[in-house]
Amino acid sequence: MRTSGSQAFLLLLLLLIFLSSLLYYIFLDQTLYLQKYHPAVPQRNISILLWHWPFGHSYRLDGDKCLEMYNIRRCFLTDNISAFSTADVVVFHHQELRGGLSSLPLHLDRPASQHWVWLSMEPPVNNANLTPLTGLFNWTMSYRRDADISIPYGKTMLRGDELSFKAVPNRSCLVSWVVSRYQPHQARAGVYQSLKKYIPIEVYGKWNKKPLSNKKLLPTISKCIFYLSFENSEAKDYISEKLWRNAFQAGAVPVVLGPSRADYEALAPPGSFIHVADFKSTADLAAHLKHVAADRWAYEEYFQWHHTHRIKTYTDWRERLCQICVQFPSLPANRVYQDLESWVNS
Ligand SMILES: *[C@@H]1O[C@H](CO)[C@@H](O)[C@H](O)[C@H]1NC(C)=O
Ligand SMILES: *[C@@H]1O[C@H](CO)[C@@H](O)[C@H](O)[C@H]1NC(C)=O
Ligand SMILES: *[C@@H]1O[C@H](CO)[C@@H](O)[C@H](O)[C@H]1NC(C)=O
Repeated sequence: MRTSGSQAFLLLLLLLIFLSSLLYYIFLDQTLYLQKYHPAVPQRNISILLWHWPFGHSYRLDGDKCLEMYNIRRCFLTDNISAFSTADVVVFHHQELRGGLSSLPLHLDRPASQHWVWLSMEPPVNNANLTPLTGLFNWTMSYRRDADISIPYGKTMLRGDELSFKAVPNRSCLVSWVVSRYQPHQARAGVYQSLKKYIPIEVYGKWNKKPLSNKKLLPTISKCIFYLSFENSEAKDYISEKLWRNAFQAGAVPVVLGPSRADYEALAPPGSFIHVADFKSTADLAAHLKHVAADRWAYEEYFQWHHTHRIKTYTDWRERLCQICVQFPSLPANRVYQDLESWVNS
C-alpha cells in the first residue's frame, strides 16, 4: 500500500506536535524544580538592616532566618542599628518616617556602596510626607510590579502535582464583607450601599460592630459563596490580603474592586474573580451573582484554576526582607530616587 503525500505530512505533523508537547512538559518541570530547590544564590554574604519594624511589630531575627525559613542562603537580617556601617542594604518602612528627616540616620557616615530602600505596602493615598525624602533612596520596595524589589501580598504559581483538587463545597450564605474602616467617600462604600438593595450581604468587622477574631475570619467567610474583596483605594497593582487571604484562602469567589481588570489578570489566577467594573450597574452585578449561585456549573467555573495553579501569600516581614537577597544580583547599581513622590504617585 502506498502512503500518499498528505498522509505522510499528517504523520509528520502529529509527530511534531507530540515532540513539542514533550519538550514543553520537560521544560515546565525543570522550571518548577529550579524554582523550588534552587533559589537564586547571591555570590557573597549580604547584610540587611531593618531600621524600624513596620508598625512597631517585631519578629525574631536570631540565627540565619533566611536560610532556616526560606532556604535563601548568604542573606543576613538584623534590626541592630549599630550594624549600620557594615550593612549592604538599609531598609526604611515609610510609616515610621512620618517624623521626617529626623527619623533617618543622616548624622552617620553612609558607606558609598550601601543601598537605602524605601519600603511601603500601602497605596499612594497612605504614603504622606514624601517631599522631604528626596535624593536619599536607591531602591523602592512595594507591592508594585515596577518597584525595584517587588513584594506582592500574594502570588499565583503553577501548580506542581502535590495537591489534589477538592470538591467545591456548598454554601449557606450568598455574600460576605469584612470592613473595619468604612468611609462613605470611598468607592467601595458606594458599591456596597447600592448592591445591598438587590442582594443580602453579611457584613462583619469593626464598622458593623461584628468584629471577627483571626481564628474566626476564614471559617466565617467560607460559609459564603462570594466575598467582597473591595480595596480601600483603587491604585495600580494594589491587591491586598483582601483577595489573597480573605477570599482565596477561605475558598469564596472574590468580587473585586481595586485596580483594573488587566492588573488582576496579571496577578490573580485565571478565571478566579468577578470584577465590579465589568457590570453596567450594581443591579447587573447582583443578577450575575444570583445566577452563579443558582447554577452549579457556572459556580464551579470560578474554581477551575485550582487544577493548574496555586497561590502563595506573603505575610511575614522576614520573608519579604529575604527577598531582597534573591533579587540583589539584578537590582540597578547606581539608582537614586530624586523624586520619590512622583514615583509613588505615578
Ligand atoms: C558568610 O557568612 C557565613 C555565616 O555567617 C560565614 O561563615 C562566612 O565566613 C561568611 N563569608 C564571608 C566571605 O564573609
Ligand atoms: C451540594 O448540594 C448538592 C445538591 O443539593 C448535592 O448533590 C451535593 O452532594 C452537595 N455537595 C457537597 C460537597 O456537600
Ligand atoms: C545611593 O543613594 C545615595 C544618596 O542619593 C547616593 O549618594 C549613592 O551614591 C547611592 N548609592 C549607590 C550604591 O548607588
